[in-house]
Order: sequence, then C-alpha cells, then structure tokens
Amino acid sequence: MNGLPARRVAGFGTTIFTEMSALALQHGAVNLGQGFPDFAGPAFVKEAAAAAIAADLNQYAPMPGTPRLRRAVAAQWEHDYGRTIDWQSEVSVTSGATEALCDVALALLDPGDRAIVFEPAYDAYVPDITMAGATPLPVQLHPPTQSQANWWFDADELRAAFEQRPKLIFLNTPHNPTGKVYTRAELELVAGLCQEFGVIAICDEVYDRLVYGNAVHLPLATLPGMWERTLTLNSVGKTFSVTGWKIGWAVGPAWLNTTLRQAHQWVTFATATPLQEAAGAAIEQAAGNGYYAGLQSEYTERYTLLRGILEGVGLPTLPVEGSYFISADISALGYHDDRAFCRWLTTELGVAAIPTSAFYMNPAAAPPFARFCFAKKLETLQAAGERLQRLRR
Ligand SMILES: Cc1ncc(COP(=O)(O)O)c(C=O)c1O
Repeated sequence: MNGLPARRVAGFGTTIFTEMSALALQHGAVNLGQGFPDFAGPAFVKEAAAAAIAADLNQYAPMPGTPRLRRAVAAQWEHDYGRTIDWQSEVSVTSGATEALCDVALALLDPGDRAIVFEPAYDAYVPDITMAGATPLPVQLHPPTQSQANWWFDADELRAAFEQRPKLIFLNTPHNPTGKVYTRAELELVAGLCQEFGVIAICDEVYDRLVYGNAVHLPLATLPGMWERTLTLNSVGKTFSVTGWKIGWAVGPAWLNTTLRQAHQWVTFATATPLQEAAGAAIEQAAGNGYYAGLQSEYTERYTLLRGILEGVGLPTLPVEGSYFISADISALGYHDDRAFCRWLTTELGVAAIPTSAFYMNPAAAPPFARFCFAKKLETLQAAGERLQRLRR
C-alpha cells in the first residue's frame, strides 16, 4: 500500500499553533498563543442557539445558508455601508471564514495561477492557495519606523506583484497578527491596482468589530469600482466570542457568490442549522442592544492591560489598531530567534505566545517579534503578567 500523502498536503506538517498549545498544556502555561477567548460568549447569543435546537431546527440548512442569517448579514451591511444587498444571491454562509477561504481558493484558482498575500499572513491563506495548485506571491508588510506609525507596504513592491498577473489578492483588515487596520489611502492604492490589472480581492474582515482609538475599519468592497470584484469574508467567532461555532459568510456580487458556492456545495454543502439561526439572532440584536460598543470597550481594557504588562517587563510593543493581538519586540531582551524565545517563554516562564515567523513563507524574513493574544479574562492576563515578571531579572 502506498501510504504517502498527496503532494498538495505533503509539506504541511504540524502548525506552530498546535505545537505551542500542546507545550502550554504540558507545562501548565497561561496560553496567550492561539487566538480564542477564555471567557463566555454573550447570553443572548447562547440562548438563541439553545432555543433553535429546542425548536427542532436541527436538519440540513439550505446550501447557501439559512434565510434568517443571510437576511441579517444583508441588513447589517446595508445599515453600516448604505448598500442594498440581495440576501439570496449576494450572501453565502460557510463553516467559518476558514471554509470560505478554502472555497475561494478552490473555486477561483487553477494550477499555475497566482495570488497575492501580504506577509505576515494569517496562516490559512498560503496553504489554501497551495492546495488549489496555485502560487502565493508574498508582499511584505514592514514594521513601523520613525516615519511610519504602523505596519506599511511599499507601493512599488505591491505593483511589482500585480505585474506578475495574479488572479486574486488576499487582504485582511483588521490584520492578524500585526493589529494593523488598513487606511483609506492604502485601500485606494490596492483598489486601483485591482482594477488596472483585473484582479479579484478576497477581503478577510473577521476582526471588523475590534478596532481601537482613532482607527476606522473600512471594507475594501465599499471603495468605488470594488464591489463587483470583491468578496468580503466574516464570521461570528471573534465578534461574539464563540470561535467553536464556525459560522462564517461571504458578501459580494452574485457572480462571486455563485462561484464560491460551486466549491462550498462539495466541501461542507451546508453548515450547522441552529448555530446559523443563533448567528442571525445575534446580528439582529447586537446593533440595537449596545453589544458592539461594550465589546470594544472591554477589549480596549484588555489591550491596555497586556500592553502595560509587556512594556513593564522590558518588551516594547508595536501599535495595535485592531484585532485581539499585540506584538512585542523580543530583540530588546537580546533574543533574535522568535521560535526559541516562544518555546522558552512557555516551558520556563509558563506563558505561551506565537512567534511572528510562523506567519511567513520564509521564516528568516520575519522580524524578531512574538504575538500575544489579549482575548482573555483580566485575571488571565494578570496571571501571565505575574509570570512574566521574571523577564525583568
Ligand atoms: C484573519 C483570520 N481569518 C480567519 C480566521 C478564521 O475564522 P473562523 O473561525 O470563522 O473560521 C481567523 C481565526 O483566527 C483569523 O484570524
């Protein structure tokens, strides 16, 4: 029997997220590595799920998603961005944003095609592109400098990538792992290049409700000329602190939804009916019950606490405009190998973080940073803070 894995998965191995979570468990570490909340999701959302199960909404959902969730997503988009969305043809529900990303790659990329990703990149983009037989074209986000207040990209480097004739560009704002929120000027530049070179944009906006200070989240799809060529992905996981539900969706023109569904119908076909109903209820109620404002202020408190802890133990942090991650510069403590640092931090100090190099195709190109997740109870962050005090010595 030839038990070799197929070439499309043979190079993947175990991810650093799995490795660090296992290490954290083994050493009883406070896990600020993998990005998920350690606190409960809101009661009104959990109750909606329980009610949907009790009401026997437990059979297969329609392939494109339940009407209630698609209507809620369409109404929310119309309310937030002033565009009327046809919930039947312009919204598709998937098993988390993760499935939508995979569907997009399978449905839009042929072997030999190219797709741009900004690096550091959320870890699913490159494997999805690779599994479709296509080639990722990385464009670097550079860390902040004296003249650049946040992570930035070079317009010429981006143009050079477009000149390689990609079919897609993956853009993530607010951005994991950097916490960057793309500015209007940056999005206009991307939009101009997409239109000049006939490129489709896949915009991952799962952290759209987690934006701090003066930063404003702007969907690429709302820029002139972009609706027709952009698929915007989102999910309930981060916004409603229920990452285990895996209910996501894509919003965009009918032709892109039709294409995505061609993959979706054979990947999962449909996703959990009662959780879709609850996601619909969550979105319907959140706009009016103050949930989003509360979420933002709670996350601001968590962010401020963790930033203070890291700075206090001699780890300079990079600015965060959105998401629930903060990066620290480990070179200030004399470390340059971020993987070795994160392993050491987990096993010796009992705090798990993720090395930034995990988000690069070529880890050697990564700056010496560690990513910490602040989607945690204040007491969890304080417990991590106590352990990190040893860094001061
Ligand atoms: C940028 C980004 N996109 C997508 C996802 C996955 O979203 P979901 O849980 O809805 O599949 C994550 C989860 O960490 C993420 O950080």
